[in-house]
Amino acid sequence: MLNRAKFLFATLSLVLWLDAGTSLAQQPPQQSSKHEQAQQKSQDPWWKHAVIYEIYPRSFQDSNGDGVGDINGITSRLDYIRDLGIDAIWISPMYPSPLIDFGYDISDYTAIDPLYGTLADFDHLVSEAKKRNIRVIMDFVPNHTSDQHPWFKESRSSRSNPKRDWYIWRDGNAMGQPPNNWQSWFGHSAWKLDPTTNQYYYHHFYTEQPDLNWRNPQVRKAMYDAMRFWLKRGVAGFRIDAVSRLFEDPNLHDDPILPGKNAYGDPNIAHKYTDNLPEVHEVLREMRKVVNAYPGNPVMISEADEPNIAELAKMYGAKNDEVQLPMDFQIADVNKLSAPDFRRLLNEIDRNAVGGQPHYFFSNHDQPRQWDRYGDGVHNDQIAKLMAALLLATRATPLMYYGEELGMRTTEPARKEDVQDPIGKIGWPEEKGRDGERTPMQWDASTNAGFSASQHPWLPVPPSASIYNVVAEAQDPKSILAFYKRLLALRRNEPALRDGRYLPLNQEDTNVLSFLRKEPGRGEAILVVLNMSAEPRTIKFDLSAHGVKGGSANPLLAAPEIGAESTQLNHFSVPAFGVFIGSVD
Ligand code: GLC
Repeated sequence: MLNRAKFLFATLSLVLWLDAGTSLAQQPPQQSSKHEQAQQKSQDPWWKHAVIYEIYPRSFQDSNGDGVGDINGITSRLDYIRDLGIDAIWISPMYPSPLIDFGYDISDYTAIDPLYGTLADFDHLVSEAKKRNIRVIMDFVPNHTSDQHPWFKESRSSRSNPKRDWYIWRDGNAMGQPPNNWQSWFGHSAWKLDPTTNQYYYHHFYTEQPDLNWRNPQVRKAMYDAMRFWLKRGVAGFRIDAVSRLFEDPNLHDDPILPGKNAYGDPNIAHKYTDNLPEVHEVLREMRKVVNAYPGNPVMISEADEPNIAELAKMYGAKNDEVQLPMDFQIADVNKLSAPDFRRLLNEIDRNAVGGQPHYFFSNHDQPRQWDRYGDGVHNDQIAKLMAALLLATRATPLMYYGEELGMRTTEPARKEDVQDPIGKIGWPEEKGRDGERTPMQWDASTNAGFSASQHPWLPVPPSASIYNVVAEAQDPKSILAFYKRLLALRRNEPALRDGRYLPLNQEDTNVLSFLRKEPGRGEAILVVLNMSAEPRTIKFDLSAHGVKGGSANPLLAAPEIGAESTQLNHFSVPAFGVFIGSVD
């Protein structure tokens, strides 16, 4: 869930700092035999080992020169996605929409917005992706529709309309005010008076996004039918938007007021009566049955900003019958390079009671990019590699965001009049909105970075595109892109990294996060060492308790580069923000 208001932006260095000292160990990734072994051995569903890549369709590739990305643009870039080493793409909404929330306000759940193309284009994308072993995951927005959806138009037309109960309608209070103090996530009251019937409707997000009433069985049926529509077209599952917000307290209790004000100038409140109500889980179980009826193990990914491991773990379902991959916002939002904080969270989710698969990410279309949030303004490119290793070497299904593999940075609008995202308009200047993390993909150093032939792309291309782009980085073995590619290949080809357990090491170390990845019953393991501090560190490992007998590690991938010779475990040096991934046995 959107988490910007919690986040205080670190001051950005405007200096383009080139990571001159950083490079890669030169060993080629191990080739297919181990990979094939792992493939054959694994009975796991595909999503357990997949790397998923989020595409914000407005910003990935414009194929028709209108300044907005589209489906054919995505199709034209599938080779890049395959070569990067991606198994599945999640595409943010492309349904017909008035675009108040850039597609998260849907006016038809079973069609494609002409801005992005046609259903035929979509089918073509799915089939071309399949040829490259890439699955397509849809974004599904169950909490609310657009106020331009025919269901809402009917619902608002009269109090007796058959669809009246598809949304949340209430009378104002005795003072002629909204029914209670509930606030929209996007600022101000969550209730909007509709003059036609003189009642208020509830909207957790923008006023143009009325919440559906999930207590109405007809709503459930209509939404499940929409899911079936896409499953029949071959999608591999859904990322389910804002899922914890599906239900509100029917008794309309006021939410508790907290100290202080938020970025919109409203009193802070705890969303106690509008978030995470227990009925959410009943719906998730029903959705899981819908997807389970289709072949190919379709996946459900939940977007829910769970406050602690107990709530996060509930998303899997007590019988593993809800969401397979709940996005882990706790890890995404540590917002500082802290070995103890990451270790605690990694340990907690790894040991979840139902054995659910962890699902990590750092960037997405709602939060400032990781380059800025975790960078220190001096070593950002090295830190980008460190974050890549944290994401891709741990035991989780990783979720990347387009351009993170390049070191794309957040580029916020400089002036209020340039802002596209309405929350930036409402909250300016404290809340500048989400445009900064949605800027066009940086393909090359040409005009508009190869994103669009239009003179006016929907968001400007950041100046960093002249250096941080696919073409330039593909030619530089020390680039962030080169590091991601090597790491993705290693993850795919090394069974211990793909399938192995996660075994935390040196748990008292406050600077260096280290862990082993090891398959049960096998001698061979992979040691991952991530120095989260700005100082070089020398540490010791005793891996005997994990069945590792040798006293050294053989590097597979490191940043900054080290030689091919093995490193002694009892005197192990790792540079500032350094990454080491090596085999031990
Ligand atoms: C989710 C989406 C976000 C959207 C909101 C309302 O948080 O990720 O982009 O604005 O839901 O649909």
